[in-house]
Amino acid sequence: MCGIVGAVARRDVVPLLLEGLKRLEYRGYDSCGVAVHADGHLRRARSTQRVAELRAQVAREDLHGFTGIAHTRWATHGAPATCNAHPHFSGRGKGEPRIALVHNGIIENYDELRTELQQAGYVFESQTDTEVIAHLINHLYVDDLFQAVRQATRRLVGAYAIAVFCREEPHRVVGARQGSPLVVGCGAGENFLASDALALAGTTDQIMYLEDGDVVDLQLARVWVVDSRGEPVDRPVHTVHIHAAAADLGPYRHYMQKEIFEQPRAVSDTLRGIQSVTPELFGDAAYKIFKEIDNVLILACGTSYYAGLTARYWIESLAKIPVNVEIASEYRYRDSVPNPRTLVVTVSQSGETADTLAALKHARGLGMTHTLTVCNVATSAMVRECQLAYITRAGVEIGVASTKAFTTQLTALFLLTLALAQIKGRLTDEQEAEHLKALRHLPVAISAVLALEPQIMAWADRFASKENALFLGRGLHYPIALEGALKLKEISYIHAEAYPAGELKHGPLALVTDQIPVVTIAPRDELLEKLKSNMQEVHARGGELYVFADADTRIGNSDGIHVIRMPEHYGKLSPILHTIPLQLLAYHTACVRGTDVDKPRNLAKSVTVE
Ligand code: M6R
Repeated sequence: MCGIVGAVARRDVVPLLLEGLKRLEYRGYDSCGVAVHADGHLRRARSTQRVAELRAQVAREDLHGFTGIAHTRWATHGAPATCNAHPHFSGRGKGEPRIALVHNGIIENYDELRTELQQAGYVFESQTDTEVIAHLINHLYVDDLFQAVRQATRRLVGAYAIAVFCREEPHRVVGARQGSPLVVGCGAGENFLASDALALAGTTDQIMYLEDGDVVDLQLARVWVVDSRGEPVDRPVHTVHIHAAAADLGPYRHYMQKEIFEQPRAVSDTLRGIQSVTPELFGDAAYKIFKEIDNVLILACGTSYYAGLTARYWIESLAKIPVNVEIASEYRYRDSVPNPRTLVVTVSQSGETADTLAALKHARGLGMTHTLTVCNVATSAMVRECQLAYITRAGVEIGVASTKAFTTQLTALFLLTLALAQIKGRLTDEQEAEHLKALRHLPVAISAVLALEPQIMAWADRFASKENALFLGRGLHYPIALEGALKLKEISYIHAEAYPAGELKHGPLALVTDQIPVVTIAPRDELLEKLKSNMQEVHARGGELYVFADADTRIGNSDGIHVIRMPEHYGKLSPILHTIPLQLLAYHTACVRGTDVDKPRNLAKSVTVE
């Protein structure tokens, strides 16, 4: 989704602004731009191409400046067009522009503000909601940009992170956030703003996280923050080790491929330091909270939701605690029956997903105050909002398609299952030791599955010419089928649906022809014989089955049945291993089809708008 970078320094900031945009590219965007204060004038370059094109344009136009802002835009209001790309300027009439502004988020009352500002004489050049903020700040500006921004933000309804500078105050950038992330990077005699600390990797590792309602004044030697009440506040500065190398591809063709192959390391890091299962793994208050709860509500979106669905099977089976799993954007708007003895668990890679955050607040508003998040970003809003947290250590995930974030979420959710089972007296020492042993062996087991890549590539060649696919799983592996279908549709644009295999005969079987590959997850579990019957239903109708089968399943290659044998059966943790070949299948199919694997069309990495 949109990305912001801003800087005030004694050096030309254009290279670092562009570098920051480059690092934010992974979030998805359809236009980009940069504006600087140059010798008393505001200058900008905007493009509907990639950041590399913007860089060339900036060089051609010889854009330099000590103060500037830059942006990658993911269109919401107004098509992806140069006139809608940020930064937006505001001047009066035909006069020189005075205000330059970039914005992430959505302003809900922009229509009303637009009418008001048009009546005041402002001419709009875009269809964006953002331009109203630039004009509003200009309208309120007397001689102090910070005050004008503070007054303007009081009029805004919706979500925003903004960075703004003005012609009259050349060494100042002002930022504000409400519902959209914004961080300050603190340097020596220079300061920076960004929507994600990753944008500042290599520039500074001293990061201050702003909170909702904050307005920040950035000058060369000063960072001044006031909160929503206008009170000065000290937000702590953290040393954040985001390596610029996180954005290096190494020997891989795409970030998604790199991230798939990082999974043994990511899972191992997520388990680092764990000697035994204790509630305290989730926070100091976890013991007391886990004791009090009698059910679990998991809230998430997309891939994270599928992690939640998998966790339901684990928690209900091992801890015997009832679990509900809800799509965050649905839960927040439906009438539900709250139970104060609920543990509300949000699952999120980014920790900034607007729907999941809103669902969490909704649950809390209903009186469910016991909250825990499984999240990959320790400094995210989700972690700050929840009482308890388990931080997965997947590392920065750049590919829009979630891979290592998912398997580390599953790892963390399995640990949560064990902790809940223990507290409820349903985990013996022997069982704990067995489960921990299996968890510790996971990285090795994942590496063995990754070695199947050449076989999966051969399948991908066949999938690439298809327009539809079905994914089947049963029990614990049904959510994995859902995740496999999401991966395929997301990056290869092949229409893919997942069903619990037993549901096939209730409708989807009508779709089966020799043109639809039917991917089947066939672990050696208690549902295997049922699954085999479902496979026969497909086979009998001429369907082509592509089966990921555990050893000892006695499913062999035959006409219309293609089998890739998984290296080992992995019991309750089998969903983690069966995810890997589905990721590889989606990845290689997309490669054959030549899609933009890391930045699939219309999608964004972090969905910070509703
Ligand atoms: O950051 P989150 O985990 O909260 O994001 C939720 C979804 O937007 C995300 O999982 C999305 O479905 C992925 N792109 C799927 O690969």
